[in-house]
Amino acid sequence: MSAYSWFEGIPFSTILFKKEIIEKIHKFVIRDEDTVILSFPKSGTNWLIETVCLIQTKGNPKWIQSVPIWDRSPWIETQKGYPQLINKEGPRLISSHLPFHLFPKSFFRSKAKVIYIIRNPRDVLVSGYFFHHNTNLTDNPESLGTYFECFLKGNVPYGSWFEHTRDWLSMRENDNFLLLSYEDMKKNTRGTIEKICNFLGKKLEPDELDLVIKYSSFQAMEENKMSNYSLIKKDEITNGLVLMRKGVAGDWKNHFTVAHAETFDKVFQEKMAGFPPGLFAWE
Ligand code: A3P
Repeated sequence: MSAYSWFEGIPFSTILFKKEIIEKIHKFVIRDEDTVILSFPKSGTNWLIETVCLIQTKGNPKWIQSVPIWDRSPWIETQKGYPQLINKEGPRLISSHLPFHLFPKSFFRSKAKVIYIIRNPRDVLVSGYFFHHNTNLTDNPESLGTYFECFLKGNVPYGSWFEHTRDWLSMRENDNFLLLSYEDMKKNTRGTIEKICNFLGKKLEPDELDLVIKYSSFQAMEENKMSNYSLIKKDEITNGLVLMRKGVAGDWKNHFTVAHAETFDKVFQEKMAGFPPGLFAWE
């Protein structure tokens, strides 16, 4: 079986995704009261999901410690998440890595809120490499060098980071779009949580904010079996997924060669030209 099934230019892991779901996503109805958490994989998505869940419960950890993260905020593009979301009444938390052109069309006519998290793509690449290296979810990348080439070509799950980011950032001036970065979230966790609260119209007391910070920390998530992916059975495909690897900004410097760094800079400048200085927290 080939590692990827391509749909409208985007590679999806053949093992993880069902074509029937991907094909019908454009018709999914997003409701005004929904909140969508969006990102390119390995950008800190699960950290953001955990944070948003804790904001909803005002820092009470009961929900995050009793319900798996993928049931709290189901993934719209998965076989499990899609029906869960369709059948859920009331405001929904929805997660997705879908690129702009594959996202449900109803969203663009709705008032639903989107939080899009970006991360230095060099760290996204390194994180993705280590995540996939030991698994057989896709073609197992034998070396960072191999994965580096694939990443630049967009031959990794969900395609090109550059296109994903460019396309979603076209919405950044919209009132229902909040742009966050992993780097800001690391540097100023409290400030970022406050930003999310304002965006979602939630008012938390200082001690409730402290609880959100406490229970969404790397260490707390690493210990929370509902969030650290340890519930996923270890088999020959998953080989035991490790979500909580290192949780730092700038780890790429420990893994890129000088040639990788130079090539990446060149490609980044070419592909991301035209965005205002300061938009990318890591540059
Ligand atoms: P690393 O592999 O660099 O450690 P995603 O959720 O989008 O798949 O992203 C996974 C990355 O986010 C991993 O990066 C993981 O360690 C990091 N991460 C997850 N939870 C975190 C947290 N609470 N604080 C900091 N980083 C976190």
